[in-house]
Amino acid sequence: MTLFPEVVRAVLDSSITGRAQAAGYIKINTYNIRDYSKDKHRRVDDTPYGGGRGMLMAPQPIYDCYQAILKECAPDEKRRVIYLSPKGKVFTQETAKRFAGYDRLILLCGHYEGIDQRVLDLIVDEYVSIGDYVLTGGEIPACVVVDCVSRLIDGVLPAAECYESESLTDGLLEYPQYTRPPVFMGIPVPEVLLSGNHAKIDNWRRERAIEITRLMRPDLLGKKVCAADDESGGEGDKTAAGDEKSDIETE
Ligand SMILES: C[S@@+](CC[C@H](N)C(=O)[O-])C[C@H]1O[C@@H](n2cnc3c(N)ncnc32)[C@H](O)[C@@H]1O
Repeated sequence: MTLFPEVVRAVLDSSITGRAQAAGYIKINTYNIRDYSKDKHRRVDDTPYGGGRGMLMAPQPIYDCYQAILKECAPDEKRRVIYLSPKGKVFTQETAKRFAGYDRLILLCGHYEGIDQRVLDLIVDEYVSIGDYVLTGGEIPACVVVDCVSRLIDGVLPAAECYESESLTDGLLEYPQYTRPPVFMGIPVPEVLLSGNHAKIDNWRRERAIEITRLMRPDLLGKKVCAADDESGGEGDKTAAGDEKSDIETE
C-alpha cells in the first residue's frame, strides 16, 4: 500500500525479483492508496490535529485500501501487516527469515509526517524500521524488505546455498571471495583456494569469516548461533516478536 507504486515497481520489477515474479515464485502487488480516497479531489493527507508542521496521511483511504486487499486474501492464509516506520524494530536477516514463513506480507508505506494513528492501530501487526535514520517515505524500506525476503523463497535464487553461507545468515560475515585471474595487480589468490582440498578450504573460510566479523562487527560474535547448538537441536528462546534468541558462544 503506497502513494508511489511506480517507485516500488521500478525497483522490484527488475533483476532477480523481476525474474522471480515472471517465473511465478513470488507475486508483488502494488496498491495505490490514492485510488481509495473518497475525497472529490482524491486527497490523501491533511493537517495534524493539535498543530505542528507537515501533513499526515488520512485514515480513510488506507483503511479502504486494506479492506480491498483483504477481499483478495484466502481466509486460511498466514499473513502479516507491516508498517514501515523509523519507530519499528530494526529489520535484520532474522526478521527476513521469519517473514519468509508467511503466505502474504502486506506492507504499508507512509509519507509526509506519517499516518493517522487510528488506522495504524486498526490494521497493523508490526512496525519495521530499516535503520536509525528518517527517509521521506516507506517505499524504499518496503523494497528492502521485499528484496531480502524474496531471496529466501524457494526458486528465487538458483540454490539455497546462495544465501545459506552468506553474511549474517549464520551470525558471521562472509569470508573474502576471489575469481579469475589467479594474480591481479601482483596480488595472488590465497593458495588454499586453488588446492582443491575442500576440507582445508572450508576451514580457511570459517577462520576468515570469524576474523572479519571480529574486525568489522564484533557485536555479532556475541549473538552467534554456534553450529554445535544447531546440531544438538536447541531451539533458542523466542522473543515477543517471534525472533529466535541465539545462545552466545564467541570462541
Ligand atoms: C518522514 S517519515 C515520517 C517520520 C515520522 N514523522 C516520525 O518521526 O516517526 C515518512 C515515512 O517514511 C517511512 N520511513 C522513514 N524512515 C524510515 C525507516 N528508517 N524505516 C522504515 N520506514 C521509514 C515511514 O513509512 C514514514 O511514515
